[in-house]
Amino acid sequence: MRRLAVIGAGYVGLVSAACFADFGNEVVCVDSDEGKIEGLRRLKMPFYEPGLLDLVRRNTVESRLSFSTSVDEAVSRAEAIFIAVGTPASKTGEADLSGVRAVAKEIALHMRTYKLIVQKSTVPVGTGAMVRRIVQRHCRRGVSFDVASNPEFLREGSAIENFMRPDRVVIGTWTKKAENLLSEIYAPLYLIETPMVKTTVETAELIKYAANVFLAAKVSFINEMARLCEALGADVQVVAKAMGLDRRIGSKFLHAGPGIGGSCLPKDTAALVRFADAAGLKLLIPRAVQDINRAQREFVLKKIEKAVGALKGKTVGVLGLSFKPETDDVRESPAVYVTKAMLARGAKVRAFDPAAMQAARVLLPRVEYCKNAYEVCEGASGLVIFTEWNEFRRLDLARIKSLLRRPVMIDCRNIYEPDELRAMGFKYYGIGRTPRAV
Ligand code: UDX
Repeated sequence: MRRLAVIGAGYVGLVSAACFADFGNEVVCVDSDEGKIEGLRRLKMPFYEPGLLDLVRRNTVESRLSFSTSVDEAVSRAEAIFIAVGTPASKTGEADLSGVRAVAKEIALHMRTYKLIVQKSTVPVGTGAMVRRIVQRHCRRGVSFDVASNPEFLREGSAIENFMRPDRVVIGTWTKKAENLLSEIYAPLYLIETPMVKTTVETAELIKYAANVFLAAKVSFINEMARLCEALGADVQVVAKAMGLDRRIGSKFLHAGPGIGGSCLPKDTAALVRFADAAGLKLLIPRAVQDINRAQREFVLKKIEKAVGALKGKTVGVLGLSFKPETDDVRESPAVYVTKAMLARGAKVRAFDPAAMQAARVLLPRVEYCKNAYEVCEGASGLVIFTEWNEFRRLDLARIKSLLRRPVMIDCRNIYEPDELRAMGFKYYGIGRTPRAV
């Protein structure tokens, strides 16, 4: 058992705190937002993530997990302190580190004995060194500390599984003492033979960006291929399948769609462009990823206009608003972007999402929110599927067709088979798909 503190009860912080507690550690999770901490004490989760409520409940009941607004209390109780505060992208694309700086200073002011300060949320290369300088400047004389980087690779929707069974754990440190302490915190994962990559702080920081931008590039590549398929009369689903069977390529992250979204991939791509620029390197692939992602959203919008006709005065049905299934996160969601553009062109939009409607209301107040997929279709001149929630995979298509004013479906996730839908009388549009000649 170790005493740990996690500063920041956002996505990364809360999931990490709950999982560390579940490993048997005593964890205090700190956030400056009193409302959030109050809520967590009453088991009110600030966002939706499968399994999180149960994990938090179990570990609070067994007194391994507690919540506080006091960094002081956390620092005095814990030997390792994880910083997991948000690092939003500023207007220029740079990560905003003011939260990290403020927390580093506060930790330093309260330190009385040795502490290991671990940066967990994604930060540009060089942030570990910055944290070390800040703590050095503000801590009492004679108090020693280490700074480490331990990037998270959690995917929204399967974050707990990712934490408990990660592909790897990255441990970036400058001293043996820090390396040993952080490795020991992850010791429960040795039992399932999780690979541990032990390296310097700078390398650890870069690994996170390299991995995420690579994933974004992989999706962007297949999205470009999808557009090429449409131009040449080929089928991207088959191209992707055959590509993915090559073990050097792999089938994951090779699904064409409306473009990447969420809180990580777009932000990390922008940040990598910025800090590579600052280092004097004009990197081409991350820039191309950004361009392709913008183009993909426009491509989807044009596709809808082609399928439905001029949008002014038309009603369009939308299924799925979150950037991917199993989350209520609408940040950078292509669904939100395209819906906004449809509204701006004078369309009326009726929408349903199993989890993200509350979050979407703030960004899209003019949308009419419906109870289910079928209500969405009532009187609509076309149905757009943006997010591949499981419940959209087996819709009663005959019912959908009878409810729609015109049987038009734009399936941005290629859930359905074009030939089948066309045989049912739908005007069906996928992404990068050409019907097989009969
Ligand atoms: C991502 C990374 O996967 C994770 O490792 C990192 O630490 C945080 O960012 P997340 O933001 O939850 O996780 O989303 P992810 O599941 O990776 O999907 C990213 C985006 O790519 C989504 O918009 C998704 O719909 C899209 N995507 C993914 C595709 O369009 N096609 C694919 O084949 C895969």
